[in-house]
Amino acid sequence: MLLGKALSRMIIIACLGLLLASRDHAFGLAIPIRQSGRTVVLLYNKPSGVVTTHEEIDAKGRVNVYQDVLSMRGFVASSPSDVNKTLQQLTGVNPTEWNAVGRLDANTTGLLLITNDGGLVHHVTNKSSKTSLELGPLGKTYEAVIMGYHDNDSIVIRTVRENGVDIGEKYGGLTAPASDIAVLGHPTHKTTKVSLTIYEGKNRQVRRMFHALGSGVMQLQRVSIGANLTLAGLEIGQWRILSDDEVLGNLKWAPRNLDSPKRSSQQRTATSTPKKSH
Ligand SMILES: *[C@@H]1O[C@H](CO)[C@@H](O)[C@H](O)[C@H]1NC(C)=O
Ligand SMILES: *[C@@H]1O[C@H](CO)[C@@H](O)[C@H](O)[C@H]1NC(C)=O
Ligand SMILES: *[C@@H]1O[C@H](CO)[C@@H](O)[C@H](O)[C@H]1NC(C)=O
Ligand SMILES: *[C@@H]1O[C@H](CO)[C@@H](O)[C@H](O)[C@H]1NC(C)=O
Ligand SMILES: *[C@@H]1O[C@H](CO)[C@@H](O)[C@H](O)[C@H]1NC(C)=O
Repeated sequence: MLLGKALSRMIIIACLGLLLASRDHAFGLAIPIRQSGRTVVLLYNKPSGVVTTHEEIDAKGRVNVYQDVLSMRGFVASSPSDVNKTLQQLTGVNPTEWNAVGRLDANTTGLLLITNDGGLVHHVTNKSSKTSLELGPLGKTYEAVIMGYHDNDSIVIRTVRENGVDIGEKYGGLTAPASDIAVLGHPTHKTTKVSLTIYEGKNRQVRRMFHALGSGVMQLQRVSIGANLTLAGLEIGQWRILSDDEVLGNLKWAPRNLDSPKRSSQQRTATSTPKKSH
């Protein structure tokens, strides 16, 4: 009787694990991660074609961001003694504990943070989270090449700057105005390169905003997150480990001991944060 109960519980847990592991974030569920150690944050310059997913085998045979990082191919060491080490040796973090902070589409390049701290994921991706409300939401700056020739006073640009864009109720409705949107140039006379900062994290928000205005996004790169985290010093595909000071100063997040039981309820909330891409 007792044995049967324990056994069926084990089976339920195993099935749940398989279920969650197999569906990635399809229903807004992050992989349940066992968190340990201290907050570690990787700043990764994601190439096009690398997918933000935990699934190992992509239908198109592409790699996921975790496989790419764990391969150490693009690692930029800050000290010579760090070369030739595995990520686990460098950080003490188990390979299954990494989570991207939000998502970037396969075709979107640029700055992606990857961390073992679910609370940080929640803080950066959810502008209504307690910590974001307390400490202020973090901006995410993108550069996009969009269809059509626009200047700073064109209707498309002004709409984004002054009104925000209705991207459809299903995707979160009206976006906040992106008051810093600026035209950077014109790669061709039929396209425009812009830069803009958003504070929300609606699904594929930047692509949907310009699509809704009839000027689809042809290329998208995230160039910055928070106060001053940029891709400086990183080629496409390269990544580095942020210092605690960078995490605190740029992300308004104090690196912490993840084993602390005090935080466990917040971590549970954090692991159910849907992943968004832009
Ligand atoms: C790293 O590995 C390379 C190739 O095996 C070797 O030449 C180099 O000396 C190693 N560097 C360190 C710091 O261990
Ligand atoms: C990514 O880009 C490729 C080639 O430009 C295109 O065929 C594909 O549809 C794009 N995928 C997405 C999800 O936009
Ligand atoms: C964001 O955080 C708030 C407060 O914790 C929560 O109510 C809300 O469901 C979260 N939203 C998402 C999309 O996770
Ligand atoms: C648009 O405005 C920004 C600053 O607001 C400026 O840096 C940029 O050069 C302007 N772009 C054009 C094409 O005039
Ligand atoms: C932003 O970061 C860069 C590189 O880490 C640094 O040189 C610069 O001083 C920082 N700027 C501010 C305003 O913190």
